[in-house]
Amino acid sequence: MTTGYTVEQLRNATADAVRAPSLHNTQPWRFRLVDGGIELAVDPGRRLPATDPSGWGARIACGAALFNLRLALAVAGTPAMVRLRPYPGDPDVVARLVPDVPRRPTPAEQSLHGAVGRRFSNRAPFWPDPVPADARWHLGEAARAEQCWLELVIGTSAVNAFAEIARSAHRVLERDPAYVTERTRWIRSEPSPDGVPTTAGGPQSEPQDLLPQRGFGGRNRAPGRDFEPEPLVAVLGSAGNTATDQIVAGQALQRVLLTATDAGLAVSMLSQPIEVPGAREALRLSLGRFGTPQMVMRIGFGQPGRPTPRRPVDEVLDVPVAPA
Ligand SMILES: Cc1cc2nc3c(=O)[nH]c(=O)nc-3n(C[C@H](O)[C@H](O)[C@H](O)COP(=O)(O)O)c2cc1C
Repeated sequence: MTTGYTVEQLRNATADAVRAPSLHNTQPWRFRLVDGGIELAVDPGRRLPATDPSGWGARIACGAALFNLRLALAVAGTPAMVRLRPYPGDPDVVARLVPDVPRRPTPAEQSLHGAVGRRFSNRAPFWPDPVPADARWHLGEAARAEQCWLELVIGTSAVNAFAEIARSAHRVLERDPAYVTERTRWIRSEPSPDGVPTTAGGPQSEPQDLLPQRGFGGRNRAPGRDFEPEPLVAVLGSAGNTATDQIVAGQALQRVLLTATDAGLAVSMLSQPIEVPGAREALRLSLGRFGTPQMVMRIGFGQPGRPTPRRPVDEVLDVPVAPA
């Protein structure tokens, strides 16, 4: 008979969950144990009102954290049954996880779990080598396994058309002073447990760049050190665009990212064309797909880099204090 999860299981799984990506590395999540179930909620104090007014980004990040949580629990032999948004009256609660029948982890779960601590956003130029066909297939499978789709933008004209949409969305965002202030506030030039370190920000953008880079105060670029001429751009989408769809998409995003890491691939994310409604619709129409684009990734073979900092696990846990 399975009882509930323990505080120790919560703490161990949360250490993996917080490795998930989040907008500007805000880490907008909280974890707690309620009647033996692990609950993951959006942290309202870490919303980005100008960049993410609808809460889409926070739900994508929490969905990604949820995927890591599921994976960590499965690899520990204590897999979870998950209910998304279990309390209609408390929409910030993203998921509740209760123990399922214990079983041994699958080899696939073990390899994905091995990638959790190695994954990071690689914003530097990639090598020109193409992503092999079998790796592309596995990335699509990862999205489908989480009820989402992954559309690869193939060919010069399709990539150019995508780049045009992305650049115009980037210009729209950069014209908004509140958005710029928010982005700037999360750049970190000194060691910090959150925000984007300038060392991870990628090189400064230049006029010849095809894809717009969100500016995180990155270093100047060596002359001639350009981005790959034809990047592999992948659009992740979900069936609908409810809050639940966005949590589902966050899980799919993390599964795709870990699958890429496990295959030795590097990824950076660019969400400007998702954040501007007109651009998102133009992107959806250009793909000719039903459903809603939720994230765009640039995928390739990257130079080495390192994971970015996270807040200590105890800072994101709400653990009941034992009575004195
Ligand atoms: C919803 C969402 C949107 C993001 N958008 C961008 C983006 O437009 N440009 C970018 O460089 N990184 C983007 N990122 C990546 C985050 O900046 C990154 O995950 C965070 O700084 C933590 O770093 P890590 O991915 O290396 O762990 C996004 C991440 C999420 C979850």
